[in-house]
Amino acid sequence: MSDNLADIARSLVAKGKGILAADESSPTCAKRFDLVGIECTEETRREYRELLLTTPEASQHMSGVIHFDETFWQSTDSQTFPEYLKSQNIIPGIKVDKGLIPLDKFEGEKISQGLDGLKERMDKYFESGARFAKWRSVIAIGDGIPTPQCIQANAFVLTRYAAICQAAGIVPIVEPEVLYDGTHTIDSCYETIIKVYDALFGSLREYRVDMSGVILKTSMVLPGKTSGISINYDEVAEKTVKALHEHLPQDLGGVVFLSGGQTSNDAFINLNRIAKLGPHPWGLTFSYSRALQDPVLKLWAKDRENKKAVQELFANQLRLAGAASLGELNESELHDNTEATKSQDL
Ligand code: G3H
Repeated sequence: MSDNLADIARSLVAKGKGILAADESSPTCAKRFDLVGIECTEETRREYRELLLTTPEASQHMSGVIHFDETFWQSTDSQTFPEYLKSQNIIPGIKVDKGLIPLDKFEGEKISQGLDGLKERMDKYFESGARFAKWRSVIAIGDGIPTPQCIQANAFVLTRYAAICQAAGIVPIVEPEVLYDGTHTIDSCYETIIKVYDALFGSLREYRVDMSGVILKTSMVLPGKTSGISINYDEVAEKTVKALHEHLPQDLGGVVFLSGGQTSNDAFINLNRIAKLGPHPWGLTFSYSRALQDPVLKLWAKDRENKKAVQELFANQLRLAGAASLGELNESELHDNTEATKSQDL
């Protein structure tokens, strides 16, 4: 595998493939395990992640995996997870932000943290096989928020992180998640997202970050989850594509979506409709946690011994997401799943 940042970015968004986000922090993992009645220990977290990563043929639709620090150092019976993934031609990645803290003096707004000592951490991850990283900032929409200060402060932190990653030979995924939670309209989500893109890409350029070695992880343009407005897939696709095409640099390394608490079906169909509106200037695909994993975790909780069935279900989730990323998903294939997991770090 090439060590060139643009090549790594291109491989992560290769046609028909996408990224598994398996980087839930231990407390978030505990919330998700709790919901399905599984005790959350270091070993059950390892066992569950091993099941996902060792799914046969996963590499057909999985270009990379984002790990949480604990999982990055865990192993199958013979190899560390990053070594195993590499042997399967899947790129190991690492989440490196240290979560969110209040943005002092800006009620209801947050800033991500973790820049101190980041270069040293990145060098260690690089030595142990990581070739890309993720950093998540969060922007909430509500009464008077987001403020320009919150958008700017988070854009700056994401920029410093991205520059440090590139200095360590690692492709940064920059994730300014605009939260789906809230009562806002789809237009207000659109207005927020374009402000966030403008601030972030302005800042990345200003600090000389190489765009071809950066991947944007973004929310889709959606009406707030508790707005009472239901999702119109074509409108979501049209507004999301408009925001991307009009506000992202052409030379960006790729675009991936988070699922953000949508049901698996909504996340797959929205991606499918977005892909259909191509061609897009960049590879564009999924980097889902809940949309890929929710049904899989439920099945695992019901039948811990039936590894084969659990892996088949996960392989099918990857196949659906892969097809959606090409705009080739047969939407009538999707089974009803109206409940999305709500737990995410806020
Ligand atoms: O940071 C967010 C995760 O990587 C993606 O999670 O697909 O459940 O929103 P999600």
